[in-house]
Parts: sequence; structure tokens; C-alpha cells
Amino acid sequence: MIKRVPYNFNAQKNLDILSKAAFLTTKSGNKINTMVIGWGTIGILWRLPVFNTVVRQNRFTYEQIEKSHEFTVTIPYVNLPQTVAVCGTKSGRNMDKLAACGLKTVKGQKIATPVLDVPGMHFECKVMYGRLMGAENLNKALDELWYNKEPDDYHMFYFGEIIDSYITE
Ligand SMILES: Cc1cc2nc3c(=O)[nH]c(=O)nc-3n(C[C@H](O)[C@H](O)[C@H](O)COP(=O)(O)O)c2cc1C
Repeated sequence: MIKRVPYNFNAQKNLDILSKAAFLTTKSGNKINTMVIGWGTIGILWRLPVFNTVVRQNRFTYEQIEKSHEFTVTIPYVNLPQTVAVCGTKSGRNMDKLAACGLKTVKGQKIATPVLDVPGMHFECKVMYGRLMGAENLNKALDELWYNKEPDDYHMFYFGEIIDSYITE
């Protein structure tokens, strides 16, 4: 059973969980993959509800979104330390992370990408704008802190229109 809620429902709780670990799920062709995200924003752009996520270009997730132009986000309302450990370190390029973690998915309500079958809040998003960040407009301290080790691996900013949002138990 899903309970449809507005995009900003439980915002404080969701951002708190996101700052520790949430899941960004993608589907391209038959390949479904999920990775852990800890950064993102939920807000308004072009008068539309938006989930903004940042994905480094070396992630398999980046390749998936470049093909599908959509993604879902699951904010888990249960603790999944093992799943976070695997999905936040291993790449779906070489393995089926969902099978490895025993994760099931549920068909998306409005888009082709599914959501994780995990109790929590889910966002279905269609990419409205993507922009690769670069050093030129970035605060030097942040550049040093986050991009020093891999200077060519800046984040891709994806702004996804939130097409649907709901809670599952
Ligand atoms: C707590 C946590 C937060 C993370 N947040 C992000 C993030 O916001 N953006 C990102 O590109 N990678 C982030 N990662 C790293 C990816 O989850 C990790 O590189 C993953 O293995 C990529 O999987 P993929 O290659 O299947 O896409 C995070 C990892 C952890 C453990």
C-alpha cells in the first residue's frame, strides 16, 4: 500500500536521513541499479517540485541516468547498514547489487524506474536539467576538500522534477 504525500512531507526527517544515507535507483534497459547518496536538496525550481542530486561521473549511476533521464530516490525509514555498505561502495557496473543485498523493487507509479521495496518515502523524478560542475565557479576551499584527490571527477548536478511522492510501510 502506498500513501501519496506532497513532495515536502516529512521534510525535516527526510533531510536528516538523507544526510546519512538514502538510495538513488536507476533503470536503463533491463538493468536496475541503486547507489547510496548523502547529498541532495528538495525544493522548487521553475515553480515545480525538484529533487536535486549530485552524481560523480565515474558512478555507474551516471551512465544509467544519462541514458534514462530519470531516477527514483528512497529515503529509508528502517536501518539498513549492510545494504548501505554494499550499495555505497560497490559499483553496479560489475555486479547486481540488488540481488546481492536481497533488495526487491516495486514498479514506479509514473515512470519506468522502480522504487526500492523498503519502508520509507519515495520520489519519482524526471531529469529537467543536468549540469556538470567545474572548478571555475567553485569555492576554492570546497574544491580542495572534495575534488583534490580526483580532480577530473566533479559531480554532475541533476535536477529531477518530482513527478510522484509517497510513503510505504
Ligand atoms: C553515505 C554515503 C553517501 C554517498 N553519497 C554520494 C553522493 O551524494 N554522490 C555520489 O556520486 N556518490 C555518493 N556515494 C558513493 C556511491 O554510493 C558509491 O560510489 C557507489 O558504489 C556508486 O555505485 P554505482 O557505481 O553502482 O553507481 C556515497 C556513499 C556513501 C556510503
